[in-house]
Amino acid sequence: TVPDRIRNFCIIAHIDHGKSTLADRMLQLTEVVDARQMRAQYLDRMDIERERGITIKSQAVRMPWSVREGDLAGEQFVLNMIDTPGHVDFTYEVSRSLAACEGAVLLVDAAQGIEAQTLANLYLALENDMTIIPVLNKIDLPAAQPEKYAEELAHLIGCDPDDCLRVSGKTGVGVAHLLDEIVRQLPTPGAGSGDGTARAMIFDSVYDVYRGVVTYVRVVDGRLGARDRIRMMSTGAVHELLEIGVISPEPIKSDGLGAGEVGYLITGVKDVRQSRVGDTVTINAKPATEPLGGYKDPKPMVYSGLYPIDGSDYPLLRDALDKLKLNDAALVYEPETSAALGFGFRCGFLGLLHLEIIQERLEREFNLDLISTAPNVVYRVIMEDGKEHAVTNPSEFPDGKSSNIFEPTVRATVLTPNDFVGAVMELCQGRRGSLQGMDYLSADRVELRYTLPLGEIIYDFFDQLKSRTKGYASLDYEPSGEQQADLVKVDILLHGEPVDAFSSIVHKDKAYNYGVTIASKLQKLIPRQQFEVPIQAAIGSRIIARETIRAIRKDVLAKCYGGDISRKRKLLEKQKEGKKRMKMVGRVEVPQEAFIAALSTS
Ligand code: GTP
Repeated sequence: TVPDRIRNFCIIAHIDHGKSTLADRMLQLTEVVDARQMRAQYLDRMDIERERGITIKSQAVRMPWSVREGDLAGEQFVLNMIDTPGHVDFTYEVSRSLAACEGAVLLVDAAQGIEAQTLANLYLALENDMTIIPVLNKIDLPAAQPEKYAEELAHLIGCDPDDCLRVSGKTGVGVAHLLDEIVRQLPTPGAGSGDGTARAMIFDSVYDVYRGVVTYVRVVDGRLGARDRIRMMSTGAVHELLEIGVISPEPIKSDGLGAGEVGYLITGVKDVRQSRVGDTVTINAKPATEPLGGYKDPKPMVYSGLYPIDGSDYPLLRDALDKLKLNDAALVYEPETSAALGFGFRCGFLGLLHLEIIQERLEREFNLDLISTAPNVVYRVIMEDGKEHAVTNPSEFPDGKSSNIFEPTVRATVLTPNDFVGAVMELCQGRRGSLQGMDYLSADRVELRYTLPLGEIIYDFFDQLKSRTKGYASLDYEPSGEQQADLVKVDILLHGEPVDAFSSIVHKDKAYNYGVTIASKLQKLIPRQQFEVPIQAAIGSRIIARETIRAIRKDVLAKCYGGDISRKRKLLEKQKEGKKRMKMVGRVEVPQEAFIAALSTS
């Protein structure tokens, strides 16, 4: 297909504003999927995506479209639709998908209006110089207020309210007109540089058990032919092309992809790390000299320890992580041992949602029961002797005197109705946020911009924000570097022995609170022992909180004063069984359930 018959677009929206439903209608209208094959959210292929109703991996579909109305009526075009993930953790994937398109459909729920991710995605699209088509969705809802939100949207992107299209992904109203407008308003993809060297950008890469890694690309310059040997520009690795083609909506082989086209490559590599999102593909025989811009290594922001509840599942956990890694270039892990929890892995994630998804997939697809330690961020610690440490596990915080500790920060945007501005500010200040700016998007909707420590929002910030604003506020954030902070490591000691799983790095002002909370929780969860057991919270050698578990004398044989030896043996065996699930911390026996209970609510 020649470039001027191609339109490449994506749909960007706040979560739940109806992107996948609209994509479904487009697939039906263009007859790429017929009514019989249609199932809800055709593009969300992973089970977990369908169940949670969210899009994790982006996908690209080629749709033929014959324009219905206006001067181009009856003319044939090829529309490439790239479905993007909507959540903050996957912003990098969104930005790569955007870079593969000339235009974006900015979808806004006509009953909700603009939300934080509407803004974040819009800014990303504007940075990529994309043409924006504003669209109000769900106009079939009784609560829809298209007039009101058209004003808001027009004000935001500087257009006329009448330019905002109105559709319903559910009933299909307005969708054909939207496809016509995509043809009319979006620029044609450039024909690329004429010197014949090929450059294509990878915007997604998925591991398939049968076919190996399937790489989705947008060809920017030149042409990739079915018999070429290709080269990855970031690593120089050369691969044989086994297959090249387009997705419509199932893969269809072709003899090549030209400038402006979107499609897939199969090379036989077995690990998505060899075919990374953002990398540039060129032809080995006649390579390009400069890669396309924008490549970034995925960088884990949040770490957590994952341990099997049943220690004998450790090899299964290792195999499962190896398998998931094939499909997730952002997942990192290394073995770790904890006195309290046994053998496990310290894993790095893009964010909390990424962590939750991985944990859920491990439990569901691999049948593992897991316990995860409280998530933490990466601290950079500079010691007085100048040595530097990157701390991904609080219990490995270096001993000795540190001169400086740095924590990662984020630039956060909160959108809230006017009435809740006070509540949002109070929450952000409580999390050591500093206000950077505040704007009224309309008479009753406010945008607040804060710099916040990442460590203060990874835990329950989003839940708190939702509950303090009756669910109306929305949040988006992006990494914004690091800042120096007064942080300390708090250890929890059981009978004088530190329990590694409970060590935490917290701000000086919150250390006492953390110590008291964990100590009193453990005091309730750990059964009495034969001797008195102190539970202490400490910063270095300084004790900041203390609870005590009083001693009992537990004599199981006391009940058996008769001489019934078999009954005695039975009781002793029973006690041995119980001991198996006990962990020894120094001399103290702790049921593993106590650790799990304390971690899951801390
Ligand atoms: P993410 O992939 O998580 O970003 O969500 P999404 O934007 O793809 O939203 P999705 O298509 O899953 O729709 C979210 C919810 O809105 C679902 O319950 C849909 O049934 C509903 N919905 C989507 N479009 C419409 C519409 O036009 N009208 C009505 N009434 N409901 C809609």
